[in-house]
Amino acid sequence: MRIFSGIQPTGRKHLGNYIGAITQYVAGQDRGQAIYCVVDLHAITVAYDPPGLREAVYDTAATLLAAGLDPDRCIFFRQSDLQEHPELCWLLSSVTSFGELNRMTQFKEKAGAQRDLVSAGLFAYPALQAADVLAYRANEVPVGDDQRQHIELMRDVAERFNARFGETLVVPEHRIPEVGARVMDLQSPERKMSTTGGSPQGTVYVLDDPRNVSKKIRSAVTDSGSEVRRAPEKPGISNLIEILAAVRATPPEQVEREFDGAGYGAFKQAVADAVVDYLTPVRETYKERRSDEQALERTLAEGAEKARAIASDTVADVRRAMGVGPVR
Ligand code: TYM
Repeated sequence: MRIFSGIQPTGRKHLGNYIGAITQYVAGQDRGQAIYCVVDLHAITVAYDPPGLREAVYDTAATLLAAGLDPDRCIFFRQSDLQEHPELCWLLSSVTSFGELNRMTQFKEKAGAQRDLVSAGLFAYPALQAADVLAYRANEVPVGDDQRQHIELMRDVAERFNARFGETLVVPEHRIPEVGARVMDLQSPERKMSTTGGSPQGTVYVLDDPRNVSKKIRSAVTDSGSEVRRAPEKPGISNLIEILAAVRATPPEQVEREFDGAGYGAFKQAVADAVVDYLTPVRETYKERRSDEQALERTLAEGAEKARAIASDTVADVRRAMGVGPVR
């Protein structure tokens, strides 16, 4: 079983990234050969600050290591260290349909948010994401719910490639958690928690100080009722129930039973305390990891070498199948 996922080095990582994806990356190390990458080539498809990008790669790498990625038990690298990813992206773009890319909701959302330029890179973003995963012939891709459409697209790309050029690529499955796949903004629980689209008070960052975390959760928007149960008309409370369930690794029903009749105040306080306890060790280890950039560079470089050993084989097979380059 091979597992692959990628994470953007943009902004600070939030509780949605942590619960929806990062905890799954950590667990993946016990389930198979796990490969994770910081996708800096995806981050350049929208307006960004070049020196800030390099810093953000270190921030994200240090966050993942603090969360429990262990370079002895997984392959962890920076996407731009491998030329195989953009090369495979180009090769696979010939079996990626324009219509499909044009239907991607993330493209539409992000394109709408760009002030100066909607880049061709932003349009091709899902093709590069397909190359990321297909380069490793990964079986499983742990992601949050918002990546469902991108995974569907890479499955189509792999199937189309295999049908046209012969069995070469593995068609991957997504692994979206049952609880916590879509953590919502605490102030506007009808939209997902996000660094770019969310509200600052509604977004809990992994590296927020505990007082801030607690305050944001205690001031989360709820409804006028008092019952701690999930319901479509109670998006705020439903979100907090899911968060607590994910943090405790218990079913949401158990959270509902435990807080039956407790009232919103006591419940929010419990969620706040649990999230603070959950994030504190990560924040503390982060500081240590982040302070040594040379060590981070070494870790990423070693990861890139291991990644290349796998990805270069796939690219060679894809080139051969497509009749590109000399016969080897
Ligand atoms: P990114 O960096 O935006 O997000 C990283 C992961 O966090 C998940 N996520 C959430 N989960 C639950 N609730 C939320 N509110 C929430 N917000 C984000 C995302 O689903 C994601 O799993 N396109 C990818 C990066 C990527 C990738 C890949 C992923 C590039 N190549 C190959 C998988 C495989 C992205 O933007 O992630």
